[in-house]
Amino acid sequence: MNVLSVVGARPQFVKAAAVSQQLRGAHDELLVHTGQHYDPELSEVFFEELALPEPAFHLGVGSDSHATQTAEMMLELERIVDDESPDVVLVYGDTNSTLAAALVAAKSSTQLAHVEAGLRSYDWSMPEEVNRRLTDHCSDILFAPGQHAKETLAQEGISENVFVSGDVMYDTLVQISDRLHGTETGLDVPDEYVLATVHRAKNTDDRDRLESIIDAFSQLHVPVVFPAHPRTVTALQEYGLWERATEAARVIDPVTYGQFITLVEDAVCVATDSGGVQKEAFYLDTPCVTLRETTEWIETVDAGWNTLVGAETSEIVDAVRAAVDPPAKPELYGNGNAAARIVEQLERSVR
Ligand code: UD1
Ligand code: UDP
Repeated sequence: MNVLSVVGARPQFVKAAAVSQQLRGAHDELLVHTGQHYDPELSEVFFEELALPEPAFHLGVGSDSHATQTAEMMLELERIVDDESPDVVLVYGDTNSTLAAALVAAKSSTQLAHVEAGLRSYDWSMPEEVNRRLTDHCSDILFAPGQHAKETLAQEGISENVFVSGDVMYDTLVQISDRLHGTETGLDVPDEYVLATVHRAKNTDDRDRLESIIDAFSQLHVPVVFPAHPRTVTALQEYGLWERATEAARVIDPVTYGQFITLVEDAVCVATDSGGVQKEAFYLDTPCVTLRETTEWIETVDAGWNTLVGAETSEIVDAVRAAVDPPAKPELYGNGNAAARIVEQLERSVR
């Protein structure tokens, strides 16, 4: 089987690492890096740490408006798909890189497989919701991380070739945890802290929301460690909030995956608007407060491990204070063998 895997943003490197490892023994994989993320700490460090293969193609698209970024990826990807004629194009998650590859594959003779299918926030103002819905609706093979996502797809009329695989991010997490066991991050952080990340457009493109989140950080009972996405740094500086942010939290550059996983594990609570980080907190037994009104990972909320608070200062502060001692934990997204299940199913499904 010839697989063309398309990645471009930080969480996709984490997801593809698990599947790529499974594929490579028995199949030919060409990895495309769109270049959506390009700063070393958002890209290169993951390739090194997770032993991802060197991309066969690096499109170098960089940052731009949604239309320009997506279109530039599509132009390059169409050429690559035409030249390489892969049996299947494999895409992950819900970024512009996902959508660009999905649209190209859907209009070619190759099959399209989507990992993380069936997730919904039902918030159309999120670019990610547009990307994942459209990708699902033009995919030939859909890998849902859990039963709920499979049912969501069925409600939208997609029930053929949908497989519950579990979460590939859990696979990668299990592997890094085995490697990390007991090692220090090398970062200077307090014994007790809340770990925060913020990067969603809804929070960074709205000064009031970002200010309200920063105010919450300044009122928490324990210090906040905040590895900040470059988008958020730019927003804080533009809004004149940078100094307040650095007073409210220990703002640091994005850290490596291994460092981040250790920070999640040792935190008293995670406060985040990230999709992947909500799950990582759940896997690592750390309660999560989600700085959004919706989540695609609704099972973590239902299980009592995740609280949706939005961006209101007092609600964030109250939720973080209350976020202790969650109940017993169900197995929501598989047991760390999602990548193997995906590759086995691809072997059966790909023509
Ligand atoms: C993207 C995804 C989002 C995902 C996130 C993971 C889309 C629409 N959004 O959001 O779903 O959760 O990645 O982190 O695909 N920038 C840099 N250096 C980089 C990359 C970006 O400085 O290496 C800055 C640029 O100013 C850029 C901004 O971040 O304009 C946003 O980058 P972009 O890739 O468009 O979106 P993310 O917010 O990273
Ligand atoms: N991550 C990391 N270093 C950081 C922040 C996050 O390695 O400083 C990892 C995190 O462990 C997770 C992924 O990046 O695997 C999540 O990416 P992000 O929050 O940017 O995207 P989302 O999951 O929201 O799409």
